[in-house]
Amino acid sequence: MDDWLRRYAGQSRRGNTAAVWVITDASHAVACYATLSMTSIDRSAGPKPLAKGAPRQVPALLIGRLATDSRAAGLGLGTAMVKHILATAAELNIKAACRAVVVTALNADAARWWQRFGFVPLDPEDSASLDLYLLTADIAATLAGP
Ligand SMILES: CC(C)(COP(=O)(O)OP(=O)(O)OC[C@H]1O[C@@H](n2cnc3c(N)ncnc32)[C@H](O)[C@@H]1OP(=O)(O)O)[C@@H](O)C(=O)NCCC(=O)NCCS
Repeated sequence: MDDWLRRYAGQSRRGNTAAVWVITDASHAVACYATLSMTSIDRSAGPKPLAKGAPRQVPALLIGRLATDSRAAGLGLGTAMVKHILATAAELNIKAACRAVVVTALNADAARWWQRFGFVPLDPEDSASLDLYLLTADIAATLAGP
């Protein structure tokens, strides 16, 4: 995660393949970062709530990466970043529709972390799947939660 930020964040931003959001400390060192990109999900690969009435390619927002510096773990930065991302998705949806936010969790622990925010597996028959989504229509409920 550190390596990607140092080596590829700048070129991804300049190349318009990923927007990089950061939370910094008082000395401007990155304490948490996330990347966002437009994507689409094949309707046939998505569950009913995602696929219903949608075109073959369902528009979505991809969280490519999210990481907190281990020295700042547990301070709420990751949660603040996710809430910022979800608010961004809701705003973006007004100007260029996106039906869902999608992420591939790093591992099973991380998948449980995403589930805190309402993310569920793209494949409803595979509860262990690391490919997760949250409907844009459900973002308001997540943001209103604790
Ligand atoms: C997941 C991650 C972003 C959380 O960042 P953070 O800033 O420490 O998160 P917050 O402070 O907002 O939340 C802390 C809570 O999340 C839990 N948590 C943190 N990392 C977790 C993980 N990998 N799996 C499950 N729970 C985790 C903590 O136990 C804590 O729980 P509590 O609220 O019950 O005390 C961070 O641990 C990280 O960078 N992990 C490695 C990369 C990763 O897994 N990214 C996300 C998947 S792509």
